[in-house]
Amino acid sequence: MALSNTNVGDETSEVLAAQAHIANHVLNYVNSMSLKCATQLGIPDIIHSHGRAMPLSDLIDALPVNKAKGQECIYRLMRILIHAGFFIQEEEGYSLTPTSRLLLKDEPLSLAPFVLSQLDPLLVDPWQSLGEWFKNEDSTPFATAHGKPLFEYAGDEPRLNRLFNESMASDARLITSVLIKNGKGIFEGLKSVVDVGGGTGAVGKAISNAFPELKYAVFDLPHVVEGLEGSNNLSYIGGDMFKSVPSADAIFLKWILHDWSDEDCVKILKKCKEAIPSKENGGKLIVIDIVIDNKNRDDKSFETQLFSDVLMMVHVSGKERSEQEWAKLFSDVGFSDYKISPILGLRSVIEVYP
Ligand SMILES: C[S@@+](CC[C@H](N)C(=O)[O-])C[C@H]1O[C@@H](n2cnc3c(N)ncnc32)[C@H](O)[C@@H]1O
Repeated sequence: MALSNTNVGDETSEVLAAQAHIANHVLNYVNSMSLKCATQLGIPDIIHSHGRAMPLSDLIDALPVNKAKGQECIYRLMRILIHAGFFIQEEEGYSLTPTSRLLLKDEPLSLAPFVLSQLDPLLVDPWQSLGEWFKNEDSTPFATAHGKPLFEYAGDEPRLNRLFNESMASDARLITSVLIKNGKGIFEGLKSVVDVGGGTGAVGKAISNAFPELKYAVFDLPHVVEGLEGSNNLSYIGGDMFKSVPSADAIFLKWILHDWSDEDCVKILKKCKEAIPSKENGGKLIVIDIVIDNKNRDDKSFETQLFSDVLMMVHVSGKERSEQEWAKLFSDVGFSDYKISPILGLRSVIEVYP
């Protein structure tokens, strides 16, 4: 875009605004990486243990860092994290916000494992292959970067298996605590649930504890559930949801369908439909996933839903879906009805009836 002599002021400010917009997007990863660094260094835990607002000099003393670097650089790291809402700076020093409280390692609902695993090079490197992937025949940018699809690689690479399962479990603990509090009715009348793709059972443990009469089975790939021990009303089953799904009153699918294409979702949903009784006999699916919505959401939530959609393209062959896309999927499999309850922040509970 050449700058002409007429209306120079207007055009110049437009070009500079465009440059600033590009710079902001190029540097967007600074937010993610600063958050990862603070989590790795345990800054939230150190401020929390201090018991009151923590002066910079005390924070540097307590941190496991080279003190010469700390003097100059921790202030700058904290400045951007204050701007991002993770800490508050008062006269006496730094304090936590509700967001950084969720990064405390001993907090039962801690999202620290989610931050550390999602920002691990194993999961971030595939983004470098997105452009190349559009031109090649690989299933995902993850496969272009690592030579095989994510769930297959997790079966062969224990570090990825552990990281991924910890990340899922960390999210699952938080979401389940909200589900038990705000969505109790969802489990009413059910005698048995199979949690398809239930990972290492973070949801399973919480729900089977909250509903002791409910028979709860966590069903996942054999390498995920290998060696896991159930309890009275909780069991683990290894298998492949594309082949068959164990029978129950309800099938629970949290963060499963967004991992797969429409064609694959139809295959999974058919297996789930075969595993449950009719609607009249209480059969249903309980799906927890994003419903993309730009009408009833603030701009930041909508943007985060779109981030997650492209993430599904990079890591797995999945996508986030709008209500229309969900409705088509359910009707393609022959389900009669569904009900969306937007009670989980960015995600919703979708009850689907045969
Ligand atoms: C995004 S994770 C969600 C885990 C868990 N539901 C949660 O939200 O915490 C997807 C899960 O699907 C499992 N999975 C992938 N392919 C599967 C298959 N063919 N059969 C059963 N589970 C599978 C993965 O091992 C993983 O645990």
